[in-house]
Amino acid sequence: MRIPLNFDWDFVPGFENAYLNKFPKSEKVDIPHNAVMLDYSYFDESSYQGKFSYRKTFKLEKISKTTLIEFEGIQVQFDLYLNQHFVGHYLSGYVPVKVDVSTFVKKGENEIIVAIDSHEDPLVPPFGGEVDYISGAGIYRPVYLYTYEGSYLEDQFIMASGDGFLRIQSKVKGDATPTYHLYDNGKEIASFKEDAFQVEDVHPYSLEDPHLYELRTELDGETYSHHFGFRDVKWDEKGFFLNGKKVFLRGLNRHQLYPYQVAALPSSAQKEDARFLKYELGCNVVRTSHYPQSEDFLDECDRIGLLVLDEIPGWQHIGEEKQWRDNLAYLTRAMIIKERNHPSLIAYGLRIDESGDDHELYTRIQAIKAELDPTRPSLGVRNFKDSECLEDIYAYNDFSNESLAHGLDDISSWPGAKGKGKLVSESNGHMFPTTIFDETSRRVEHALRHAKVLDDAMGQEGLGGALSWCAFDYYTHKRFGSLDHICRHGVATLDRGKKAAAYFYQSQADDVPVLYLASSMQSSDYNAALFPPAIIFTNADEVDVYQGENLIGTFLPDRKNYPHLPHPPVVIDDWIGKRFDEPKISAKDQKTIIKGLNFSAQKGFNHLPFGLKIKMGLLMAKYHYSFTDVYNLYGKYINHWGSQGDDFTFVAKKGGQEVRRIKSGSSLEGHYEVSLSQKRLVNKDTFDTTFLQIQKKDHYGRLCHHAFDAFEVEVSGPIRLLGPKYLHLEGGHLGIYVASKEVKKESRASVIIKGNGFEEELEIIVA
Ligand code: GAL
Repeated sequence: MRIPLNFDWDFVPGFENAYLNKFPKSEKVDIPHNAVMLDYSYFDESSYQGKFSYRKTFKLEKISKTTLIEFEGIQVQFDLYLNQHFVGHYLSGYVPVKVDVSTFVKKGENEIIVAIDSHEDPLVPPFGGEVDYISGAGIYRPVYLYTYEGSYLEDQFIMASGDGFLRIQSKVKGDATPTYHLYDNGKEIASFKEDAFQVEDVHPYSLEDPHLYELRTELDGETYSHHFGFRDVKWDEKGFFLNGKKVFLRGLNRHQLYPYQVAALPSSAQKEDARFLKYELGCNVVRTSHYPQSEDFLDECDRIGLLVLDEIPGWQHIGEEKQWRDNLAYLTRAMIIKERNHPSLIAYGLRIDESGDDHELYTRIQAIKAELDPTRPSLGVRNFKDSECLEDIYAYNDFSNESLAHGLDDISSWPGAKGKGKLVSESNGHMFPTTIFDETSRRVEHALRHAKVLDDAMGQEGLGGALSWCAFDYYTHKRFGSLDHICRHGVATLDRGKKAAAYFYQSQADDVPVLYLASSMQSSDYNAALFPPAIIFTNADEVDVYQGENLIGTFLPDRKNYPHLPHPPVVIDDWIGKRFDEPKISAKDQKTIIKGLNFSAQKGFNHLPFGLKIKMGLLMAKYHYSFTDVYNLYGKYINHWGSQGDDFTFVAKKGGQEVRRIKSGSSLEGHYEVSLSQKRLVNKDTFDTTFLQIQKKDHYGRLCHHAFDAFEVEVSGPIRLLGPKYLHLEGGHLGIYVASKEVKKESRASVIIKGNGFEEELEIIVA
């Protein structure tokens, strides 16, 4: 029997032996718990590194043959006490710890005390050097108690290949033998005792159709359930293949860090992140950089068909100490056992991110994988090209893009990768940190740099895929990131707001019609009041652009500069087009004038190339135009600083049919839009969360990137705000999580958002 132990814990900072006899006056908390709430930025990174104590009492009606307690994740190490006995010292960090406490439990009331130590122990990976991310503190993933009366399943490894062949390795404690029941779409399709089974007419697991089967294992009166998928993963010099079909892996790296709450969010928030990566960022793969992540996150990746590359905990540093290396071996073993049943997992990341070569250590790590899972390949991420590659896949962090002119180096320049599968595991990131409130040109360039890298990647024969750095901005140590302890490397913010680059990624997939205008349509937003080409991210075939009622033209994806992307950006570099209506100018001369005006919009009159300047001069003479006439022509068809032109309309079409339409121009007003990701919170194994988003949009529905308005968020009823109640927009966006409290019966709660002249109440049901 599995009993969740996630509500009603006592928590105090610090630990003293005296707590075992009398736990001090404490705060009541629920798990997942973050021991120290951080500020949104500019926090003290020593604040969460230290000792913290948790206490929980629970009742057992009887003593079972076996009682286990499992902690899915505690930062970083802990001492466990049960009924005042010291049970042991354990290392968790990013992997679960399951302990047999049968000899310590008693009938009736039991007391667990967990004394955690979250300091960055230099003998534990990822620590020992300076790390570009923070780990946080607390019992930050769920806790379970398991009781068994007889034999029980300690562990199970399900190997299912694309031809329908199923092999099961069950590790049973005791003498009973398991019976397996195979379910498809909730219906039992087979029952057997052997550890191998052939499924006829198998329904394979693919990206388009991530079909899951369920294996129920019966053993001594207990049923254990696992979802899995039948698929083949192959990775060689030709690329990556899923079920024999070549797939280009397009993705982003994810840190598990959230605003205020650090890593301590339960299932709903973890699953929302997986869906965000797939549907809002168009990824088909995610790398769980740089450590094993939540099982809820991985379960959702399985369910929606988002492929996963995992990774052992680390960051550049390899410890020389025996204990550091033994700890890495331990954590590798624990990660593989935790993650090997996930069909979405296509390779293990078995090298410390960007570490140097270490033959002895990585041979040992590879041997662990060979023992625990011969079915999947391994990859190793490095930042140099001639590394010794003991893994199946040579993964390289390519930060060679210093401008829009260059995306990636050629994979033929990686000598160490010869004969191996190849992957670009990172790019961009610190090369061009960008906030959601940066000026338009920077946000657009940020997005185009991602486009350039992905285009270069997709043009390289034999490259299995490319993942950029990274999905979300993240909390980091003071030596990295901006001075505020945030690495603003994400295509979305720490509080899950989409930057322009996010829409670029979303436009590469075909799940939903995307039409996003990255540029601003107001010349005063650009240096010297110029009007640079507008950049549109869309997965449509073409975009019609109108000013007012007049069609400027139909613009196609820019295949010249981005020949390899499924959906290149659309570049609007002609603001006049079909609108030019000056009958006295001949058709041939019109072309030159339009060219001259468009060029001036992009670079300024003073920068016209010599040839074009001469031609324009001659035409001015021919048609008796003064400079003021030309200037007025520019104002009429393009825009002067401060002049108010008609709105622009962009109509995206696919197969000749309109799929989306947006408008833009000078903003007239701002209004707030508030939303919750879910309105019904259900406490199950843990508390539940909903994501509250407040945005300021202009009258075209576009985010007000320069809005910083303040709010007070009050909650009433059985919910709590996971962060401070006084908040403000950053670049027009604000996101925060709201958690449910334990309830006896279905109850109502509400979130009241108060701003300057604004108040809105959102109702939530908690069950
Ligand atoms: C890489 C590293 C990442 C992150 C990134 C920033 O070198 O692997 O963890 O620090 O740089 O661009």
